Amino acid sequence: MSVIKTENLTYTYSIGTPFEKTAVNNVNLEIEEGTLAGIIGHTGSGKSTLIQHFNGLVKPTSGKVYIDGEDIWSKDVKIRDIRFKVGLVFQYPEYQIFEETVYKDIAFGPKNMGLPDEEIDRRIKEIAELVGLHKDNLYKSPFELSGGQKRRVAIAGVMAMEPKALILDEPTAGLDPKGRDKILGQIKEYHQHKKSTVLLVSHSMEDMAKFADKILVMNKAEVFCYDDTPKVFSRSDELENIGLAVPQITRVFNRLKQSGIDIRTDVYTVEFARKTILEYLAKRGGENA
Ligand SMILES: Nc1ncnc2c1ncn2[C@@H]1O[C@H](COP(=O)(O)OP(=O)(O)OP(=O)(O)O)[C@@H](O)[C@H]1O
Ligand SMILES: [Mg+2]
Repeated sequence: MSVIKTENLTYTYSIGTPFEKTAVNNVNLEIEEGTLAGIIGHTGSGKSTLIQHFNGLVKPTSGKVYIDGEDIWSKDVKIRDIRFKVGLVFQYPEYQIFEETVYKDIAFGPKNMGLPDEEIDRRIKEIAELVGLHKDNLYKSPFELSGGQKRRVAIAGVMAMEPKALILDEPTAGLDPKGRDKILGQIKEYHQHKKSTVLLVSHSMEDMAKFADKILVMNKAEVFCYDDTPKVFSRSDELENIGLAVPQITRVFNRLKQSGIDIRTDVYTVEFARKTILEYLAKRGGENA
């Protein structure tokens, strides 16, 4: 079953003013449980507005949002319960840290859910290990940590609520490549361990090529495509036409194809490129023999 579903979802900001802007336009999506998906698109394409609908932070101008099959704006559903089911990590979440210790900060969400202390303690220890926060750091003030560590604490706080779906808005923004890889690696670890649905907004096709099983491309408030990662990259010409940079390795394979070489174009990692070239050479060798 789909954990998140939208039906003709539309959201318009500042209706009736000169600033009126439709940020999400007639979006129909179904996200299957256990999906690990990247959300890509130009700045202003509606990524943040879209994901803020998934935990009821924003109410649609028209259309429906279903979580676990329930229309979240129907009278029988409490939005508070939806917030526990769908955990949203905003951009720069480290600015929302305020507790005296890392431990208390991670505990904040689970405490709000009314969980017993022992369960909270179990979750904090499990998540700290998953995201590579050393035990000693749990009792420090969050303000003693580095920027990257603080961000991991903020993300851990939402993970500790064990939401069915975890949604992160550009969790790697502003970090260096090492910090980016670390956070993405830990989110992937969490996904594999918990088998929960994870959606992640990113500006980097290269990162998403390595990270995501599926990719949702937003373009001008609409869904351009939502499909398995290889299928999305096999349409790299179309992606380039809407001005999105595909991974360099994908571009190389497209150029080869355009120049008349009969080679596949759904290549988006160096490892797979190597395999594809070797297969191609073996095939050619066979033909020439
Ligand atoms: N509070 C607001 N009031 C009016 N318009 C808004 C508001 N927030 C966003 N918008 C507009 O809605 C559109 C979509 O914005 P949104 O933030 O969802 O895009 P995004 O894809 O997340 O962009 P980015 O990659 O820059 O984060 C943009 O044109 C933006 O200017
Ligand atoms: Mg955004």
